Amino acid sequence: MEMLLSLVVALLIAGVLGVKIGLDRRKRRQFNEPPAVPGLPLIGNLLQLKEKKPHQTFAKWAEKYGPIYSIKTGSSKLIVLNSTQVAKEAMVAKFPSISTRKLSKALAVLTSNKKMVATSDYDDFHKLVKRCIIINLLGAGAQKQLRDHRDVMVSNMIENLETTIKENPDGVVNFRELFKDELFQLALKEALGLDIDSIYVPELGKELTKQDLYNVLVVDLMRGAIEVDWRDFFPYLRWVPNSKWEENIQRIASNKFFVMKSLINEQKRRFDQGEVVNCYLNYLLSEKALTEEDLISLVWEVIIEASDTTAVLTEWAMYELAKNFDCQDQLYNEIKEVCGSEKVTEEHLPQLLYLNSVFHETLRRHSPVPIVPLRFVHEDTQLGGFLIPAGTEIAINLYACNMNKKDWDEPDIWRPERFLEGAHEVSDLYKTMAFGAGKRACAGSIQAMLITCISIARFVQEFEWRLVEGDEDKVDTVQLTAQRLQPLCVYVKARN
Ligand code: HEM
Repeated sequence: MEMLLSLVVALLIAGVLGVKIGLDRRKRRQFNEPPAVPGLPLIGNLLQLKEKKPHQTFAKWAEKYGPIYSIKTGSSKLIVLNSTQVAKEAMVAKFPSISTRKLSKALAVLTSNKKMVATSDYDDFHKLVKRCIIINLLGAGAQKQLRDHRDVMVSNMIENLETTIKENPDGVVNFRELFKDELFQLALKEALGLDIDSIYVPELGKELTKQDLYNVLVVDLMRGAIEVDWRDFFPYLRWVPNSKWEENIQRIASNKFFVMKSLINEQKRRFDQGEVVNCYLNYLLSEKALTEEDLISLVWEVIIEASDTTAVLTEWAMYELAKNFDCQDQLYNEIKEVCGSEKVTEEHLPQLLYLNSVFHETLRRHSPVPIVPLRFVHEDTQLGGFLIPAGTEIAINLYACNMNKKDWDEPDIWRPERFLEGAHEVSDLYKTMAFGAGKRACAGSIQAMLITCISIARFVQEFEWRLVEGDEDKVDTVQLTAQRLQPLCVYVKARN
């Protein structure tokens, strides 16, 4: 009797689900919605995404469901875009209908609820702060003014490498440690006008070293940004406490806040004493519309953006060059031909075409930002011929765009020559989708290009690079940006 009852209940449930799936399919066909990746009732596709590398899972699904499809993350529906064509359609042509952001709870807390250029909606606040960052920091004119910081950064790295090799000629160099320290110093100089060795933070009751600063302002935030609050997927369960998660995110956010407040106060004291420093903070202080919280968030934004993605990209470029000797030789020969016995400078960059190809091929094969922070459709629109209703969230998978077999021959292979053969302008920074596209494309692409290219060129001009045996296939990634799972460790030998 009990078995019969269970069977009847099971049949009823199957019937209801069957009718629902049938209706869903019919509704999708009727409204011409994108295909849906099948998932489970209630949780949708969440279980299929549990291994924290969604860009790769999305790219695999694109092979079966096409460049545009929908998935369910709990109760929310997400449209995923996986080709350059449909991604550009969303980011450029349909931008007026898809210009707002949808932030996870973690990102909302960590970015003071959209008080950053990169996470704000396309509103008056965004237009004001985007103008500030371009004029003072990231536009071509501002980057010229900041040239000294880059030159100091590169010569420090070369000197440090020379010393390391002298002390231990056969030792292994941890590239990440070398590069990130110098890049962080550059970020502090750009944001606050000076490199800071330590600072006392009254709210934390202690003096923080530079390494502590890096951990609080960069490492903890990058980790925090991918901390998932399961309630994001079930907004109707928001009332259920998730206190451990909340305490952790609030701790990361308030540590950042207190540290930034101390750094800013310290610099303000200097400015008040008449020290004139050309930096982003100084410029923002003259913008009367900005609150203290805005200032803290905006100055921190520059520190984290300058410190992370460029380091991720340069590490991947040096990994590929250390692995592919022929490419390293070709780059060295190009540098010899163009620069002779002079040291490479930024003035040489437009003539170094192979270097430019190495930069773009690394952006393509190892896109540092694999998925653009989620966009939000605020009025009904169409993408790839499908209807996308208002209220839908959009994930743009830049990794899949740059690894798409239709656009790129043998996309898995890192081959800089593909950019020599193509019809691209040398100065075009958007040969791939790595910097996004349209009005919200990366504002820091010029800085990223200058730092990455001049560093690679000087590294190869002065030294020979070789991977540690067994590291050839270590291409796994970790974090919000596509950082190498293992720091790059290499043998480095002076050329002369
Ligand atoms: C290789 C290095 C970099 C890569 C691959 C990269 C990638 C991106 C991408 C894909 C976006 C677009 C997000 C979207 O469309 O929603 C973006 C936006 C942005 N990036 Fe970068 N980025 C890099 C370096 C930098 C640097 C060095 C800075 C500043 C120091 C920076 C500042 C910004 C800002 C401010 C935005 C927001 C622009 C806006 O919303 O209007 N980026 N970046």
